[in-house]
Amino acid sequence: MARILNFGSLNIDYVYHVDHFVAPGETISSFSREVNCGGKGLNQSIALAASGATVLHAGKIGPDGKILTDLLESSGVSTALVDISGGPSGHAIIQVDKNGQNSIILFSGANHEILPEMITCALDHLEPGDTIVLQNEISRIPEIMSLASALGIRIVFNPSPITPEMEDYPLELVSMFVLNEIEGEALSGTSDFSAMPDALRERFPGATFLLTFGSRGSVYVTSDRIIKYGIHKAPVVDTTAAGDTILGFFTGLTAGGTDPEKALEIATKAAAITVSRKGAAPSIPTLEEAEACPFPYVPFDLF
Ligand code: RIB
Repeated sequence: MARILNFGSLNIDYVYHVDHFVAPGETISSFSREVNCGGKGLNQSIALAASGATVLHAGKIGPDGKILTDLLESSGVSTALVDISGGPSGHAIIQVDKNGQNSIILFSGANHEILPEMITCALDHLEPGDTIVLQNEISRIPEIMSLASALGIRIVFNPSPITPEMEDYPLELVSMFVLNEIEGEALSGTSDFSAMPDALRERFPGATFLLTFGSRGSVYVTSDRIIKYGIHKAPVVDTTAAGDTILGFFTGLTAGGTDPEKALEIATKAAAITVSRKGAAPSIPTLEEAEACPFPYVPFDLF
């Protein structure tokens, strides 16, 4: 079984269901509010564990964050490497509109209180060839990348949110990037989806890329192959954590030896179920549910 360390964010998600995203100067009322467990890190750990991987989560919460570690533990994720800060946990304010699309504001909270000793302690649990998963919602990402790479650990990076500081990250150390349209454009320098694979290969010759294009499908790009997969068309309730679900299932399955074609199929089926349900972490399916995805396949036709 693949062993994966996810050094990642843990957020409390405040989700507001609205008619449309609030505009500058506008005040709107929400239809309803939910409070869920979330954070790209937490969501991805749950999807990784659901795919069958052995997952260790490292990160930081506040005294209000026990709900987050309780959910990780009950999802089969070890939280022995999650520290507790004196300040509040990270949280996210999420608007979900009537089409199920979201917009997210992050408050970093404890996610930005990562200490150097947490990094060395977490990496002590890995061996060369193991995988570390990172998003850009915690502090000290460049240090984690450098130390992990020096130990021969495979780095999977989801550069979300994109920040100006990322220009100075040692991105050449990344083994696999997981990118949506916005992140793909930022790292490749092109908004032409068909040109992204070659632009990314040229900039990061040592890496592979999982590009997720939302309702149009996904592609997995290596130095000599492009594997395309469409979508399973589900009724869209809430797209939050769809990308986290694809990342977790694809990374967990491929690390466990599943070929990328099959892993992309199962990850896409899992994401279809995620968008058909409310919330971030609560919407992520089991492997059995993903394999039995009831939604019809629509082929990839973006390029
Ligand atoms: O990808 C969805 C996640 O982004 C939410 O759960 C929110 O917490 C933010 O991290």
